[in-house]
Amino acid sequence: MTRTIGVDVGGTKIAAGVVEADGTIVDEARRDSPATSQPAIVEAIVDIIDELGKRNEVEAAGVGAAGFIDAARSTVLFAPNLAWRDAPLKRDVEAKVSMPVVVENDANAAAWGEFTFGAGADVADMIFLTIGTGLGGGLVLDDELYRGAYGIGGEVGHLRVVPDGHLCGCGNKGCWEQYASGSALVREAREFARSGSPQASRLLELAGGRYQDIDGPMVTKAASEGDGAAIELLDDLGRWLGEGIATLAAVLDPAVVVIGGGVSAAGDLLIEPARRAFARNLTGRGHRPQLEMRLATLGTEAGIIGAADLARRR
Ligand code: BGC
Ligand code: NA
Ligand code: ZN
Repeated sequence: MTRTIGVDVGGTKIAAGVVEADGTIVDEARRDSPATSQPAIVEAIVDIIDELGKRNEVEAAGVGAAGFIDAARSTVLFAPNLAWRDAPLKRDVEAKVSMPVVVENDANAAAWGEFTFGAGADVADMIFLTIGTGLGGGLVLDDELYRGAYGIGGEVGHLRVVPDGHLCGCGNKGCWEQYASGSALVREAREFARSGSPQASRLLELAGGRYQDIDGPMVTKAASEGDGAAIELLDDLGRWLGEGIATLAAVLDPAVVVIGGGVSAAGDLLIEPARRAFARNLTGRGHRPQLEMRLATLGTEAGIIGAADLARRR
């Protein structure tokens, strides 16, 4: 029985698991992301692979990282939200662990997990969107993960949706990620609370009275209690999401779009407005089959499971 390790390197934490061929996680480990320095992240990845490798018999490790990965699946060329530039991640990690390592974009890894074992398992063409710190995308076209000529395909978070809009971590303005991500949700929630509107009282209360401390889970919590302002914030995010998905559908015509990442915990509060906006914006609507928008089923473990499976298939 071959087992592999999947590692999901996010902005705030590193999560890893030992995964069987059928996608089952049999062991897990976690680390807080040590700031953002390249060597510290490498050290944490090595450390977590060591920990799991000691307790389990494993044959390879897959690492999903939030950045642009080269076609050789070795180097992090660029990361909009992390201090990674031209980092030879595969080489650096392989130098310190006793197994082969595959590096993949974090959203691609999670997309592969959902496609192989989760919400997209029944279709051949699927777009996966992960809504967290950033907005990540993974394209599965004709049963294969699409990487483009240079490995960087599927960076949907950096589609420009607003000319001269909010500045993005990638250096451009108006990227979709600035409107449809957890960071965007938090920015809007804080701005709203700072304005002093009495409608923001529940959000402020959850944040101990400090608008700067409002976070994504607080918005979701308030919204699920029925708080109008929080519901509207998620509604806005859902609208941005649905409009962007209509644009993607015009190009790729997927059967299913799977929504994952931390913010997808908001469930229907997010996906219903996204469905409505999509239906209003799809080109040729009413005269074509409509894709299905689904919530991810593997939750925050999609990245671990997908990275491990990609390592198995290396
Ligand atoms: C990055 C992607 C990443 C996504 C989710 C985006 O800002 O460009 O590479 O997949 O965030 O982490
Ligand atoms: Na991607
Ligand atoms: Zn951008």
